[in-house]
Amino acid sequence: MRVLRKTAVSAAVAAVVLAVSAASSDASTAGGPKGFRPPADSLRALAAPINLAVGTAIIPFDLDHPDYAKIAGEQFSTVTPGNEMKWQVVEPTRGTYDWSGGDRLVEFARKHNQKVRGHTLLWHNQLPTWLTEGVNNGTISNDELRSLLRKHIFDEVTHFKGKIWQWDVANEFFTDSNPSRINPNNFWVAHLGEGIIADAFRWAHQADPHALLFYNDYNIAGEDGSNAKSDAVYAWVKEQLKQGVPIHGIGDQGHLDTQFGFPTQMKADLQRFADLGLKVAITEADVRTFVNNPTEQVPTSNLALLAHPYEFSEMLKACLAVRECLSFTVWGFGDADSWVPGFFTGEGYATIYDVNLNPKAAYTAMQEDLALAAHGAPHRPGSHHHR
Ligand code: XIL
Repeated sequence: MRVLRKTAVSAAVAAVVLAVSAASSDASTAGGPKGFRPPADSLRALAAPINLAVGTAIIPFDLDHPDYAKIAGEQFSTVTPGNEMKWQVVEPTRGTYDWSGGDRLVEFARKHNQKVRGHTLLWHNQLPTWLTEGVNNGTISNDELRSLLRKHIFDEVTHFKGKIWQWDVANEFFTDSNPSRINPNNFWVAHLGEGIIADAFRWAHQADPHALLFYNDYNIAGEDGSNAKSDAVYAWVKEQLKQGVPIHGIGDQGHLDTQFGFPTQMKADLQRFADLGLKVAITEADVRTFVNNPTEQVPTSNLALLAHPYEFSEMLKACLAVRECLSFTVWGFGDADSWVPGFFTGEGYATIYDVNLNPKAAYTAMQEDLALAAHGAPHRPGSHHHR
């Protein structure tokens, strides 16, 4: 059965590749420089007929490495800086900006006809030391902190104005408890109150009225099995929309772990956000599992070898099934570059290419899903910008 299904699916991929090649002038080069044409069997070309953006975070910032840059440019139609737009990186010294990494990525994206997801304006992690130290030792008051944040958001969004498709405005504010709520101990909430999240969206919207503004978090599509965090974000965003806060989308990071199984309500959770009039996106997809060592990253269980492509595929299909799901972004495409081994002890094998940048079964599964979706999945709204 497995072999038969594979054969049928490979035939379908081949058929769609032919169709896409025939129509590739509009499918894969629309709206950008004419010179760059991705391969017909690339993820981005297969996703083009249904207008789904397939993305990657750029980690590490290795765009000089030809093998790395080739995959980044050919396979993906949207890119996210893994770190280069975070406050710690853009303002390492108070008052001195360094936009070089972000600018470089924007230029890479322009050359490869890619859209850019900006990440992230308001988060409790990767803040500059001068800021956190100043707050902790009392030299930066809460009033000053608020104006520093306002300036940070205005300056950064203005610097990249017109070049960012989706901004992850606010990142990771909710607790993983059941019930979940906005974390009162979050650095920003503790000093400035919950309303600071809405203010961040208002400031970002003023600075670039055409960018799509996202709230981004993990475990908001039932990943822990309870759906509590999803419920809390849902109630919160519904209330924000009622109050006219300019939030346009919800990003589920999509950091999965094979030991917990696939969160089967992901599609329903994405759909109910969409039913509020929001866009949705998978913003940081990876599927980690236990591995025998952090260099080779060979899964310790054979079952994980099956679960890994399965979970990538199910996650992609959840997005494909929801018309408002605009993009599916993986958090780095190669196992050697993934954040997982550094953050989850004993785990790895989280991405769609192996440590030598060879595509894994998860990559092929995504190709198959995209090829088949071209025949059935809803076509995304065409507009680049909000409204
Ligand atoms: C990670 C980066 O990949 C690492 O390089 C960095 O050291 C820490 O942050 N959720 C997020 C991302 O929103 O910004 C994080 O990225 C991964 C978890």
